[in-house]
Amino acid sequence: MLELKLEALILTIEQIPTLPDISTEILALLDDEDTSIGTITQFVERDQALALQILKYANSPFFGTISAVSSVKHAIVVIGLGEVKSLLLAFTIQQFFSTSGKDEKNRKKFWKHSLICSHIANYLARFFQYKSDNTIFISALIHDIGKIVVDQYLHEEFSVVVDHIENNHTTFNEAEKKILGLTHFQIGAKLLKQWNFPPQVISQVYHHHAPWLDKNYSKGSTIIYLANILTKMAGYPCLQAEKELSLAQFTKSKAMRLIKESGFELDEAKMEQLLKNITELLSTNQDFL
Ligand SMILES: [Fe+2]
Ligand SMILES: [Fe+2]
Repeated sequence: MLELKLEALILTIEQIPTLPDISTEILALLDDEDTSIGTITQFVERDQALALQILKYANSPFFGTISAVSSVKHAIVVIGLGEVKSLLLAFTIQQFFSTSGKDEKNRKKFWKHSLICSHIANYLARFFQYKSDNTIFISALIHDIGKIVVDQYLHEEFSVVVDHIENNHTTFNEAEKKILGLTHFQIGAKLLKQWNFPPQVISQVYHHHAPWLDKNYSKGSTIIYLANILTKMAGYPCLQAEKELSLAQFTKSKAMRLIKESGFELDEAKMEQLLKNITELLSTNQDFL
């Protein structure tokens, strides 16, 4: 039974179309070194909804601007051109998977989780002095994209996964393995490969629950892993009923030991400090969500 479902699931992923032309346009625009902030501003201002999303993002407490950011141009300066490129791409993906006929409330929660995760990932990259090439940021934004794929194309199965989590307070991974035979990180990585994303992004998405298995980009994957669990610990899971992980549980876990053994400089005090800083930042202003 599960085997049949698995086959159907793989076929479903393979049939997902490529991203719309707009994303190619964004990428070309931003890959061009001559593209000025003015050009990007014009591009963003063409779409009111997009402009609003960019403005909201720039007003996050993670940027610590003294006064409110109220112009698109200022927002792009605050966020940074590289990050704006990733954000525009993520917003295109968000639109690509429309919510019509789906659970809009859950979808909103999902994107909130992803946006906060992207802020935290950048925060962690600075904290651990990791020289990122923006793949950290886009990986954080789309790390759970596999969940959306299932919700979008196999909505009934997705509801069974969600029910299973709600009834058993388990994790997505456990529920997905049991019900679908594949997890969201496998599904997400497969789609991103089809969409020709850079190998580093595919690997970071694939390993966001087990970065110590990443042979090539373990530091980046560890940052995504930590950003994801800190997002949940700060109170922003994809689904409220998901099994919780406390700081104390994590610091004593096998995962923590494996991360340390992989050479990543993490300890209990740092984790505690990070969660405290992040929770404080998030409590100062919620308007960016
Ligand atoms: Fe995940
Ligand atoms: Fe996540």
